[in-house]
Formats: sequence, structure tokens, C-alpha cells
Amino acid sequence: MLTISNLTVSVDDKAILKGLNLSVPKGEVHAIMGPNGAGKSTLGYALAGRDGYTISADQLSWDGDDLQELEPHERAAKGLFLSLQYPVEIPGVAALTFLRTSVNAQRRARGQEELSAPEFMKRAREAAGTLKIPDEMLKRPLNVGFSGGEKKRMEALQILLLQPTLIVLDETDSGLDIDALKLIGETINGLRGPDKALVVITHYPRLLDYIRPDRVHVLQGGQIVTSGDAKLALALEADGYDSVVANA
Ligand SMILES: Nc1ncnc2c1ncn2[C@@H]1O[C@H](COP(=O)(O)OP(=O)(O)O)[C@@H](O)[C@H]1O
Ligand SMILES: [Mg+2]
Repeated sequence: MLTISNLTVSVDDKAILKGLNLSVPKGEVHAIMGPNGAGKSTLGYALAGRDGYTISADQLSWDGDDLQELEPHERAAKGLFLSLQYPVEIPGVAALTFLRTSVNAQRRARGQEELSAPEFMKRAREAAGTLKIPDEMLKRPLNVGFSGGEKKRMEALQILLLQPTLIVLDETDSGLDIDALKLIGETINGLRGPDKALVVITHYPRLLDYIRPDRVHVLQGGQIVTSGDAKLALALEADGYDSVVANA
């Protein structure tokens, strides 16, 4: 279970999240929707432990571990993965090298044996094939010169290889054409399982056609202001945030 209780987050003395409460049980997919600037990305960063945020919470835990006591890489080793709204470019580091280094760093942190080069390559090729990522792209520096859609596919590849248990997707649908949206949506939906929780942050409900949420929450003014089932996403698309929140 992901448990967030009374979370406040501020940057440079500006309060962004103001007492946010959210619980996502294992096995469930929850969508977070909300207007621009609502604090959706900030929620993802706070979970991942990004520098520069002042955080307080009565509880911020995943699977029994207090996230606030863990460094970002320790959170990742505990199974947390944040897919970024704007994936970063890393010049000079080939995508494959980045992937292998991250997979093996996590395995070491969990006390597992590192993957051999052939075993890693076998897994990487298979996962890349699923996502229609050509070999040539894996050899290029990570995300450098990749299109928006290619960067998102590269993030999905990281998810397939790292096998995280708490997956937070931040606007994974932005910049994707219909085919890529379907491919990535279906691939990630295929990861659903009793040991995993997914938090899907999205501005538009398109991605939710492929990753059906168990619950939908609206984030506005730094708090979850209303929650519902998958139908809430459709109401938001039809009527807009202001009207749905006003009627809730
Ligand atoms: N580093 C920062 N410094 C100042 N304000 C910030 C910073 N990061 C985010 N904000 C502000 O916090 C609010 C929430 O941002 P964000 O979490 O990116 O919203 P969303 O992802 O919902 O669009 C916005 O008003 C944004 O301008
Ligand atoms: Mg955002």
C-alpha cells in the first residue's frame, strides 16, 4: 500500500501541496487528474525524493517503508519508479549502458546477483522488441535527440527492465501519437498485478482507455478535492474540472 497522509510540499516558501491524502492499495491503479499547475508533477517528485522540496507528512510510506527516511536511489531499490513528464537527456551515456547500470545497481541494493552481459542483453532486446525500439536507438546516448514519443518508449523500457512495484507515470501520454499511446498503454497495463500499485498522473483521459483506473482523483489547489471511479475521468473530459469539482 502507498499511504500519503497530510502531505505538504513547498518550494522556495511557496506551498504547492497542502495536506494531500491518498492511499493506493497493491493491485490497484489510481489516476490523478487536475488542471495545469495543480501540483501533479510535484506529487511525483515528492514521492521520488527530488532535491529542493520542503516536505512534511504524517505518513509517506510504500509497502511499510517510510519514504522520507530513504534517499532517492534507496526508494528506487524498494521498487519506486517515477516516469518523468520531461525525460532528461544524458549525453555521453549510451541508453544500454544506462539501463544495465541501473538494473544492476538495484539488484546489488537488494542483495541479488548482477545480470551477466548476455543475460542483460537478452532481456533488453526482448523488452525493446515489445516496445518497437530499434537496436540502433539503444546504442545512442540516452534520450539525446530522441523525439518526445521515443523518450516515453525509453521510459517504458526502463519500467520493463527494472520491474518496479510502485509505478508513478507523469503525463506519459503527452507527446505520443495514437499508435505509441496504445503500445505503451497496453504494455504498462500488462504489468498490473497483485504486488504492484500504479499512480497514473494525466491531464487528459486518453491513456486511461488503455490503463483502466480503479479510482480517479482530482488534484486542485494542493489537495485531492474529489475522487470517484473510472467514470469520473469521462465526466472531467466532458465538463471540465471546475464544473465537476463544483458539483462534487
Ligand atoms: N521549482 C519551483 N519553483 C517555484 N514554483 C514551482 C516550482 N516547481 C513547481 N512550481 C509551481 O508549483 C505549481 C505546481 O506545479 P506542478 O507540480 O508542475 O503542476 P502540474 O504538474 O499539476 O501541472 C505550479 O504553479 C508551478 O509553477
Ligand atoms: Mg506536471
